[in-house]
Amino acid sequence: MPARPVFTPAAFPAGRLRRTRRTAQIRALARENSLSVNDLIWPVFVVEGSNRREPVASMPGVERLSIDLITKASKDAAARGIPAICLFPYTDPALKTAACEEAWSADNLSNRAIRAIKDSVPDIAIMTDIALDPYNLHGHDGIVEDGCILNDETIDALVKMALAQAEAGADILGPSDMMDGRIGAIRSALEQQGHKDVAILSYAAKYASAFYGPFRDAVGATQALQTSAIAGAAKGDKSTYQMDPANSDEALRLVARDLSEGADMVMVKPGMPYLDICRRVKDTFGVPTYAYQVSGEYAMITGAAERGWIDGEKAMMESLIAFKRAGCNGILTYFAPRVADLLQG
Ligand code: PBG
Repeated sequence: MPARPVFTPAAFPAGRLRRTRRTAQIRALARENSLSVNDLIWPVFVVEGSNRREPVASMPGVERLSIDLITKASKDAAARGIPAICLFPYTDPALKTAACEEAWSADNLSNRAIRAIKDSVPDIAIMTDIALDPYNLHGHDGIVEDGCILNDETIDALVKMALAQAEAGADILGPSDMMDGRIGAIRSALEQQGHKDVAILSYAAKYASAFYGPFRDAVGATQALQTSAIAGAAKGDKSTYQMDPANSDEALRLVARDLSEGADMVMVKPGMPYLDICRRVKDTFGVPTYAYQVSGEYAMITGAAERGWIDGEKAMMESLIAFKRAGCNGILTYFAPRVADLLQG
């Protein structure tokens, strides 16, 4: 919805804006936005094994779960009305290579999880991540050669990865790699291979952010990332492909480009520091727009709440309504199950 003109209120005392804030009931009537369970996509971390749960130290309350437990958690999430989960695998370091072949193995951890969930939880949408970082000896989202991230070679790998995920039954593919041309390549491969109804939620405006730190611990990519020096960026830094936090118009170019190549939905990431981008994207394109409230945002809220510095529950809900106010249709958030519980009351 494009920005509307703002009505100029009557001058005081005819105009007293506190009248619509006086009671809980009047505030409810005057409320402009609301958060519902339909707005939630729950990112989860998958680990090998059975009946295994491993806490992620930098994300209090978040655990890596083995496939059997993820399946159970998906069932619970579906029962609470959460529409989608998003899978992130913790890959055995022994499987990481420079060519990242494990990324498109039909039986990799992520694809086995997709099949298991599809088999027993029909009423939750499964979203995936398309990027090479969990499988890459170098920890980067793209193929690294001679200190460079190779764009076109990476696309070939991402297409294979996307097809393997679609084959396993994924409903929504989430390319998070920030290579140029990947949406078009993935979309045409999906069409050719008979996966014409698989949706693409493009991480279109993804910034090179310090807020991804806890996530990289959760998927075990931190160490690998520190090993490779990329020309044009500091060690462990993804600035040659992820966006400069100083930029805003560039986000609109990226969204326009990804939509033109066949993305169905677009994402801004991280979330809270980039609400201005969410609003511009929604106003400019009017397409299904999502924000990823990333690991570092979750860690800030839960970490401060654990110390008693803020009210964690209130901060959680306030942070999420902010995304709705900024124009988002939904939010990827590690808080999803807690929010769903709270909303159910
Ligand atoms: C990897 C990927 C990242 C996240 C989602 N997919 C990390 C990165 O780009 O380094 C971050 C999510 C989070 O921080 O919660 N392609």
